[in-house]
Amino acid sequence: MIKNQWYVILESKEVPKNCLIGVKRFGENLVAWRDSDGKLSVFRDKCPHRGIELSKGKILNNHLQCPFHGFEYDASGRCKVIPANGRATAVPDHIRAVAYPLREEHDFIFIWFTPDPENTGMADNATLPPLPWFDDIDVSLVWSGMTDHWKAHYSRAIENQLDIVHVPFIHHNTIGRGIGPVVNGPFTKILENGLSFWPSNANDSGQIPLRHDQVPEPVGKKTYLTFLFPNLWQNHIMDKMRIVVAFVPIDDKNTLFYLRTYQSIVRIPVLREIFFIISNIFNRIVLHQDRRVVETHQPQATQLRMDENLIPGDYPIIQYRKKREELKSRLPDLATE
Ligand code: FES
Ligand SMILES: [Fe+2]
Repeated sequence: MIKNQWYVILESKEVPKNCLIGVKRFGENLVAWRDSDGKLSVFRDKCPHRGIELSKGKILNNHLQCPFHGFEYDASGRCKVIPANGRATAVPDHIRAVAYPLREEHDFIFIWFTPDPENTGMADNATLPPLPWFDDIDVSLVWSGMTDHWKAHYSRAIENQLDIVHVPFIHHNTIGRGIGPVVNGPFTKILENGLSFWPSNANDSGQIPLRHDQVPEPVGKKTYLTFLFPNLWQNHIMDKMRIVVAFVPIDDKNTLFYLRTYQSIVRIPVLREIFFIISNIFNRIVLHQDRRVVETHQPQATQLRMDENLIPGDYPIIQYRKKREELKSRLPDLATE
């Protein structure tokens, strides 16, 4: 995994007030909980007393209470109550659940995935970089979403959404119908924290495809795709319709997709619901066309240099791998990919 990045890990609605949820992310067990005032926290799912999973506990007086000996933790992770010591005894300051810095925007929960959350702390949140997001998604667009579980490393799941070579084959009867196999470019813009590219496939009439630097800039062309590190992607189909995916790493072998359709074409509520039902069904069909093959990749995680033979049309994947390598090299981790 790339360390020290803001990752989407959950949707806001998955953690209602006065509720907690245990989830695995980055191969680590986490507990997300929200108090009755709506304040959200994400802890390592491990009680600092004797290692019990806090997600088996409950919310009591706006604290997360461990089920084993009843220690209570506030939203910052600080232990406030040790019942066995009696309320008259001060709680030692060093007893703290490990809390990840988090932010909540766009109906997503983001955490700052760091190897050192003990020393990063909620208090440092304001000094961390801005969240990755798509500035062109405004309030006129409403969304409906779905989730899908892939038995694949998240780098493979992301690269699949940067792969335009596969579209006429895997999706020959859905989004790839009528799309030619010859890949020009694609024209690609490298962003500070990701990339955008403009697909321009063609039928094979004997031509030599244009490389990414030979394709003229597609000024005004509204269909393009953007990836933002570490785990967000948008298919800008048109101004009034987008597909957004958050690729959430569960561990080195599993990825959870949060896929949303954003649109402002259909505004009448009943028709909008029907539109979203159809779009979610269609998107799941398309995703499962991909999933069937992506789950068979060997090896599961990708590297910049590995035993594959990429072609010019794989340019967005190559750029993703380069940037990922650069970001990973800032905080290398031999244990995970
Ligand atoms: S293990 Fe949690 S209170 Fe003892
Ligand atoms: Fe696909």
